[in-house]
Amino acid sequence: MKLNKEYKEITSDILNDEHFLELKNYRHHGTNRYDHCKRVSHVSFLLAKILKANVDDTVKAGLLHDFFLGSSNKEENSYLNHPKKCVQNAKEYFNINDFEANIIETHMYHYALTKKMLPFINHDAKVNAKEYKPASKEGRIVCLADLLASIYEVGVFKVKYSVCLYLLFVFNIIRY
Ligand SMILES: [Fe+2]
Ligand SMILES: [Fe+2]
Repeated sequence: MKLNKEYKEITSDILNDEHFLELKNYRHHGTNRYDHCKRVSHVSFLLAKILKANVDDTVKAGLLHDFFLGSSNKEENSYLNHPKKCVQNAKEYFNINDFEANIIETHMYHYALTKKMLPFINHDAKVNAKEYKPASKEGRIVCLADLLASIYEVGVFKVKYSVCLYLLFVFNIIRY
């Protein structure tokens, strides 16, 4: 209960902000962007507690790490560009500090590393992984939390999708 209260105290202003609430309108990893950001901040909160990191900065940056509006098909919202857009938005609406900005800016390090190891993924985009390397423990926490939340969300989406297809298939067999 004490942990829940602490998490709410750090996040409630952002979670109830009208601009941040707009994230509910955009799909993201089979869920919506608002829920994804909330999940990442939750995982970041727990990891920051376990690893004795700065909880406030980690949670706030975790919550704002994907604070961009519009489809992710836009150039400015691409895999590699959206962190910069999120920093701009977070500065404009929530007055974040430079430490938090660096956490947000480097949260796609997992993607940069994956692309370095498997360059055929999205081969149009060139990436220098060093540019995305988090400068702090808090940055590494949010990067890991984002990866874990994304794997979970995509996994749940695929299971739901498969179950729906299977039910549709069974329904059609019964019908004929
Ligand atoms: Fe992101
Ligand atoms: Fe994310």
